[in-house]
Formats: sequence, C-alpha cells, structure tokens
Amino acid sequence: MQSDALQTLLKNGSYINGEWKSAQQKFDVTNPATGELVAQVADASEDDAHAAIEAADSAFKSWSKTTAAERAALLRKWFNLMTDHAETLGHLLTLEQGKPLAEAIGEVKYGAGYIEWFAEEAKRVYGDTIPGPAADKRVVVIKQPVGVVTAITPWNFPNAMITRKAAAALAAGCTFVVRPATETPLSALAMAELAHQAGIPAGVFNVVTGTQSSALGKVLTQHPRVAKFTFTGSTGVGKILLKQCADGVKKVSMELGGNAPFIVFEDADLDAAVEGLMLSKYRNAGQTCVCTNRIYVHDSVHDQFVEKFVAKVRELKIGNGLDEGVNIGPLIHQKAVQDVKQLVDDSVAQGAQIVYGGTPQEDSTFFAPTVVTGVTQQMPLAAEEIFGPVSAILRFSDESDVIAQANDSEYGLAAYFYSRDIGRVWRVSEQLEFGMVGINEGAISNPAAPFGGVKQSGSGREGSKYGLEDYLEIKYLCMGGI
Ligand code: SIN
Repeated sequence: MQSDALQTLLKNGSYINGEWKSAQQKFDVTNPATGELVAQVADASEDDAHAAIEAADSAFKSWSKTTAAERAALLRKWFNLMTDHAETLGHLLTLEQGKPLAEAIGEVKYGAGYIEWFAEEAKRVYGDTIPGPAADKRVVVIKQPVGVVTAITPWNFPNAMITRKAAAALAAGCTFVVRPATETPLSALAMAELAHQAGIPAGVFNVVTGTQSSALGKVLTQHPRVAKFTFTGSTGVGKILLKQCADGVKKVSMELGGNAPFIVFEDADLDAAVEGLMLSKYRNAGQTCVCTNRIYVHDSVHDQFVEKFVAKVRELKIGNGLDEGVNIGPLIHQKAVQDVKQLVDDSVAQGAQIVYGGTPQEDSTFFAPTVVTGVTQQMPLAAEEIFGPVSAILRFSDESDVIAQANDSEYGLAAYFYSRDIGRVWRVSEQLEFGMVGINEGAISNPAAPFGGVKQSGSGREGSKYGLEDYLEIKYLCMGGI
C-alpha cells in the first residue's frame, strides 16, 4: 500500500476538467477483506456533477472535431499506460474491491483491452451512400458523435466497466463523465490520472466521486447537455435511471442484472463442463452479472458431475485477495454476505441440500464457496440473482423442458451449455433467450465481442464493432439539384 507507484495513482477527489477537486465532506473507502481504511475521498456535490457535464460539453466542441487518427493515438497512449501500470492498478483494485490480485490484474488488462480495441475501431466509422430516388438526388449517410455521455458504473468491475464505455465514447468523438460506485472510486481516479498523463485533453474524461447516489444520478440523467446515459448495475436501479432519462429522451445503454443458466447435457464432456463452470461461477466470488446462477444437470450424469465439481470447488482457497494462492476474496460488504445466506437458507428450508460449504459468520465479509443440490426452479437460489459463490444445482431429463426452464426468467444476459451433439448445439443456441451464449465455454467476455442482454437484462451492446454504434448518431444528407 505504501509503494511509490501506488501513491502516485492514489487520488482522493473528483477529476473535473483536467483538475482534481477536493471537498469538505469526505467518505471512507475500506478494504472489504480487512475493514481497514484505504483512502478518504472527496464527496462530490450536485454542483460538481454539473461542473463536470459543463466541462465535457465545452470540451466536446474541439474533441468531436479531432480526426479519428488523433483520438486513436491518445487512446493508444492511455492503453499503454494502463498496461504498464497493470500491477499497481490491480493492487489498488484488490484493496478497494477485494478480488484476488491475479484476477484484479486480469481485470485491468481486460479493461485496457477495450481501450486498445476502440482506439482501432475509431478509424472504422464508415457511412453509406444510398442510390437516390431521383436522377438529381443523392443520399449520403454520415455518422457523428452523440455528444456528452454520462455513466454510472458498478463496484464489481471498477476498471473494465468504465473503459468499456469510456473508450467507445472517446473513440466516437464524445466526451465523458462517470460516477463510479461509492465502494470503488479509486480505480476510476487512477485511470483519470493515466488519461491525464496520456494527454487526453481537459474535460474529455471526467470522474465524479460521491455518496449521494440519487442526487448525482439525477444530474447525470437529466442535465440538458447530456446526450446519452449508460449504466451497468442492477435492473431495479436501471429502471429508475431509465425513467429519469425519459423526460429528456436521452439515448441510453443499459447493462443490467442476469440469472445465467448453465446446462450440462448427457452428451457433454463432463470435465470440460466442470472447468467451464468453475470459471463462470467463481469469477469475482460469483459477483458478476454473467456468472452462472442456475446449473441444470441431466439426470443421467448428475451424480458424476456433482462429484467432479465438488472436488474442484474444494481446491478453492478463500482469503484476502492480496495473499498468495487465494482464488476467492471477500464479498463487497457484510450485507452482501447476509443476502446470499438468506437465499441459501430459504432454499434449504424448501428442501435443497448443502453438499459443500456452508454458513458464514454473522459479521464476516467472507462466504465460503458452497454447492447446493436438489434446487428447483421456484426456489430463491434459482429464481433470484445470487451474486455470491454459491452453486445451485437442478436436475432435468428433457431438452425442451430445460430450454423452457432456462428461458423462464425476466433476465436474458448470459447462458452457457455443454453438449457435443452439433444438432443440439444449434437448436439450443437458437432457442435460448439471452444476449450471449457460451457453448462448451465458460469465459465469454472479451473486447471483440458484443456484450449485452435481452429482456430485463438491458439494451445496447458494449465492446465489438457494435459497441461504437451506441455512441454515434446517424445523419442522412439528401443532396438535390445535381
Ligand atoms: C458484469 O458483471 O456486468 C461484467 C462482466 C464482464 O464484463 O465479463
């Protein structure tokens, strides 16, 4: 915590118009593994949020006129600085969020990957020419940046959820204001410092750190100069923010909750399925929107699969993310532990059985990896988003039944299934009502792929060539008198 590199990137106030802002009120950022104070950060007011949007609005006038190559070069510098500082950024991320250091460094590289991706995509914003309706008319389509973009990002990925939005926005020629989660502002501020070092002009990338979620959220969704709002977080909060955006008819992208099914068919390679499940369930201690939530295992392979899976889960080491060999860190706070415990307790009361793991201590932020069998579709562990390291296993015997069960959710973010039957692979992929499907694969996120969901999991796509479109307006030019 004391290293010079860390101190250089440890900032303690909002970054607005290229300057660090202090405030009389401060809030504590604590390490979820130890409860220790990591930093005290200036608590931004609504005025600060207004100032950030106005700075972004004024910077938009020149940033939107830079060439794609100029923006790409600056983004590339930012990417290089992020990768050069990946270990320090990872350390900071573990301190404020808790995930194991290797995973935190992995997130920083994953996050930086979006900056690299969009630096390259900036040069590929193509328009169209369309055959005109008359001999003297021409139809041309150009694409232009939408304007000032505001964002609210979550604590589970304090780095990558910002870069995935900001890099696309900046590449498109938009300017950006983000309010990171109160629990994890330090990664965002460290990224602002590196954006500054990269030479990204004042006002183009702004960070507003504060505890007044509702007041700051209103400014970010309702300020007249905001053209687009983008959010990653729960469906409940997303709905409130969407309503706030409605009055100003803001463009929106929403990456909301999930309840991912993971289906193991009778023809699956069980070892591969266990490996994929470990990745998709225990990443970030299960605190990921795309984490597996409901594991459907075919009757004929159920017992064998559970045995293999529990053997792997036993190998997981829980502890402080900075300690060697730890693969499961704490949950973000004690309330998260109690919420997950409630889901387990309520499901056990309805007949589910804990086959591995168990009950956390009352005042702990740690929840041991846990496996529960005998879960059914209506039990809380299947019906609700767990957001913790609990594997809920259900049985099935028929392909169409399991597809119907998998789709029986208001969410539609990610789904996974394992099968070696090519016909089934197509049938199931096409019928699953989810934005992303992992087929014989548990790790689906990467900058080249379109990340996003259907149903109440949100709208819009992030990453990939589609991710840039969300930050561009289409303008049609009709040229007559030719
Ligand atoms: C999320 O939890 O929403 C992000 C996960 C990812 O990018 O893989």
